[in-house]
Amino acid sequence: MTPSGGADAPILGLGTWAYDRGCVVPAGESRLPLGTQALHYGTGVFEGIRAFRSDSGLSLFRAHDHFERLLRGCRLLRIAPPGSVDDLVDRTAELLRHNEHCDDTYVRPVAYKLSLLPETPAGVALHGVSDGMSITTHSFPQDGQSRPLCCGISSWRRPSRDALPAQAKITGGYVTAALAGDEARAVGDDDAILLDSAGNVAEATTSNVFAMLCGRLVTPPPTGDLLPGITRDTVLALCRESGLEVLEHPISPAELLTADEIFLTSTGKGVAPVVAVAGRAVGSGAIGETTRRIATHYDAVTRGADGDHRDWLTAVTAVASNLSTEE
Ligand SMILES: Cc1ncc(COP(=O)(O)O)c(C=O)c1O
Repeated sequence: MTPSGGADAPILGLGTWAYDRGCVVPAGESRLPLGTQALHYGTGVFEGIRAFRSDSGLSLFRAHDHFERLLRGCRLLRIAPPGSVDDLVDRTAELLRHNEHCDDTYVRPVAYKLSLLPETPAGVALHGVSDGMSITTHSFPQDGQSRPLCCGISSWRRPSRDALPAQAKITGGYVTAALAGDEARAVGDDDAILLDSAGNVAEATTSNVFAMLCGRLVTPPPTGDLLPGITRDTVLALCRESGLEVLEHPISPAELLTADEIFLTSTGKGVAPVVAVAGRAVGSGAIGETTRRIATHYDAVTRGADGDHRDWLTAVTAVASNLSTEE
């Protein structure tokens, strides 16, 4: 019998080396046992972190916040911490250098339940199961700002936080995102906005939602059924600093249909304008002025062009300065 097609197809943009359970190994050769618990039961947590290129080199954006969230998820799933936040940031920066990334990059750490320990009976468990952790890096070029998106309102609901913890990126929870995204793409949309169990807007498949309603920017509150994203937090901070009021308040689907502007926020997408929702144009159907302004500000911050927020950046590589006095 031959393995099914594509089993070892190279992943586009995957860095040559990966961190895998304590070692740096060739990324394409890493192997996990078929019994890996997280594969069967979704018992893993992951992060998506980006490194942005600027004139001064490559820098990770809010890497400490991402690893703090990962470690909170580990605690929830009884995964032994794979290191301190500082260790994990250092390990990631080292891997980026080892893979010789010098342009925009996406970093994917995942910590997971691995194998039943000798005394543990078979079945779904957190206690008595060993852990693993990997980090891969992926080239992630992005020219300019995110492209405008058309979104559907999904028939799938975002699981409530009493069924699926909302504050961590738990691998098993992403089945809902996969179903909702698949449903959206099947009818020609780019992404889906999911409602919560009360029927209000929760979030999109892998991003948070902001809407301009009656002249005010509104986003669902972090106490709702949503992952309170680090990009969401960044946007809230930037808006407040620049004097733009943002309300954290439930948004009904009907309100969403009357919004003048909508945008999504996530590490992967950045600030992404939504120009149509449920088959209707958002506002004029063009990218809104507020969305454009926030996207530009976010871009400046991630690339170190905004002096007020350099503390969110961790330098990975530095471009040699032309001003050097040494010959
Ligand atoms: C379900 C979900 N909500 C929101 C977000 C946005 O989070 P962040 O801005 O931290 O990337 C993500 C990110 O992937 C996500 O998976």
